[in-house]
Amino acid sequence: MGGTFEPENIVVTGGCGFIGSNFVHHVVREHPGVHVTVLDKLTYAGNPGNIAGLPSDRVELVVGDICDEGLVDRLVAGADAVVHYAAESHNDNSIADPSPFLETNVRGTYTLIEACRKHGVRYHHVSTDEVYGDLALDDPARFTEETPYRPSSPYSSTKAASDMLVRTWVRTFGLRATISNCSNNYGPYQHVEKFIPRQITNLIDGVRPKLYGDGRNVRDWIHTEDHSSAVWCILTKGRIGETYLIGADGERDNLAVLREILRAFGRPEDDFDWVRDRPGHDRRYAIDSAKLRRELGWEPARTDFAAGLAETIEWYRENEPWWRPAKEATEVRYRAQGQ
Ligand code: NAD
Ligand code: DAU
Repeated sequence: MGGTFEPENIVVTGGCGFIGSNFVHHVVREHPGVHVTVLDKLTYAGNPGNIAGLPSDRVELVVGDICDEGLVDRLVAGADAVVHYAAESHNDNSIADPSPFLETNVRGTYTLIEACRKHGVRYHHVSTDEVYGDLALDDPARFTEETPYRPSSPYSSTKAASDMLVRTWVRTFGLRATISNCSNNYGPYQHVEKFIPRQITNLIDGVRPKLYGDGRNVRDWIHTEDHSSAVWCILTKGRIGETYLIGADGERDNLAVLREILRAFGRPEDDFDWVRDRPGHDRRYAIDSAKLRRELGWEPARTDFAAGLAETIEWYRENEPWWRPAKEATEVRYRAQGQ
């Protein structure tokens, strides 16, 4: 296990997005001595409301682009650590238009690690299990830190490229960095373009949910709160230069998840539409997080998926003003793609 690192001033990029904002809430709640500067461009996926109400002496929002070298240099110079969540994050969007994915996910990461290298600042890189490609449904294997990279979508290939940049900066420039690759998150503040919020908000609107392909694709679900505790654990206790996989043994196929959501709304289990499959759709993701658990002693706390899903459904029911402004535009985009 590495020594403990106790940052007091951290920059969290993408802290107005889904997972980044949940991490900011986590840090404010669990680590009282820490000040957070959120750097977020407020794209369609960023919402300052996600962190509104947090104490202003603990959290500062800087609206800006991670590709802006001058701004990044200034913020990194005053920080003990950077935790990098900002990204273009949605596979379907990356298939429709890869360009912003290259800019933010690759150039943005490069800009951040260059600044961290220059100022000797600790860097944690938040990445995805999708860099490993997919597994067959009947394959007993799960992804480990040794699995070769084999990304499928423009999104996952730009995330893979960003991971490679970080590894290179560690080896060649001595950047003090760690990388985590996490499985599918769910919970509050997730954009309505993503699978679970899309189906929940469709049902609230009386619209039939939409399932891609044959519905048998498997995702390994983790509550976003467990992702946050894992990232904090790696930031403070992880060994420099190491990659840690984050997962909570939550494999489920999309049909099973959808049926659970339909049940919660009292709808028949076949009350949904089959729609066009995603091109290159990854079949199955599965994470073996043994290294993180063994080396750093991390354990997930929110492993009751049914309870977490019920809570998430309740959150979307109670927070319609939060998601309503994005809903129509999202569905217009999906309809144009036959999804
Ligand atoms: P999200 O799309 O909800 O949020 C992304 C945030 O980044 C938004 O607030 C957006 O405004 C901001 N952003 C985008 N481009 C920016 C730029 N150029 N400069 C500054 N800010 C910018 O994404 P998410 O689902 O919360 O994912 C966050 C991170 O976690 C990503 O790096 C993603 O690859 C990774 N990840 C996501 C999952 C998942 O299940 N969603 C799983 C594993 C890893
Ligand atoms: O595995 C981690 C990744 O999880 C993250 O890196 C990504 O940022 C995040 O978006 C997520 O990627 P997925 O592509 O797995 O998530 P998404 O919510 O888009 O889709 C989940 C599954 O549901 C996938 O198999 C596609 C399917 N799907 C999705 C939508 C939006 C449907 O069947 N219907 C839908 O309407």
